[in-house]
Amino acid sequence: MRRKIVAGNWKMNKNFQEGVELAMAVQESLKDYKGNCKVILIPPFVHIAKIRELLENDIISLGAQNCSNKDKGAYTGEVSAEMLWSSGADYVLVGHSERRQYYGETNKSCAEKINIALDNQLMPIYCVGETKEQREKNETFKVIEEQMKVGAFALDAADFGHLVIAYEPVWAIGTGLTATKEQAQEVHAFIRKLIEKKYNKEIANNTTILYGGSCNPSNADELFAQPDVDGGLIGGASLKADDFVKIIQANK
Ligand code: PGA
Repeated sequence: MRRKIVAGNWKMNKNFQEGVELAMAVQESLKDYKGNCKVILIPPFVHIAKIRELLENDIISLGAQNCSNKDKGAYTGEVSAEMLWSSGADYVLVGHSERRQYYGETNKSCAEKINIALDNQLMPIYCVGETKEQREKNETFKVIEEQMKVGAFALDAADFGHLVIAYEPVWAIGTGLTATKEQAQEVHAFIRKLIEKKYNKEIANNTTILYGGSCNPSNADELFAQPDVDGGLIGGASLKADDFVKIIQANK
């Protein structure tokens, strides 16, 4: 059966000391946690190795917010998948809408990053989602189908099995607007159907699909109760240990 996950995407927040403190506060709060939700902290690159050293808890893994689509070499400013893995990351976000919007990430570059991540033992968390305009024009399903097709469906079934998908409606990210539980469930079920059509029912049933977009302690329960919502990718609310832990506890 698929794994429940709550991942905290810190984005470009928290200096090094603050980041270490936040990770330790989450670890401390989860000391007696008995649930079965996997927790992933996704700090800025430069925090990863230190936090890895300090983590004692098996339920917390680390992820990175991006990786290069190149293997290695003269690419000033880039960070490779191998560097991330060797620093202690297990996961990497690919295609977050902020990367698509501000840094020209495309479905094609996402496919390259997913390949390179998998080659380096990182599990990609592939982000998809429509903008407000696309939703208003009834293009949500078309956009997501294209993102899945070009970004992820070139993989063979075995590789696809290492992916986590995050549905993040762009209009809900950092805006305080959340998809209703019905809207989230509808798109999650659609994504699962696409996976079933491309691969098979078993792979579709085993794929973890996270919801992201203004998820917080007061709406997490109802979102995570939807049959196809397996957890969340949390931005703003992951920056406070108490709120983040409440969200983890809501993922039963
Ligand atoms: P948010 O961000 O929770 O602050 O809306 C989610 C995300 O971008 O992953």
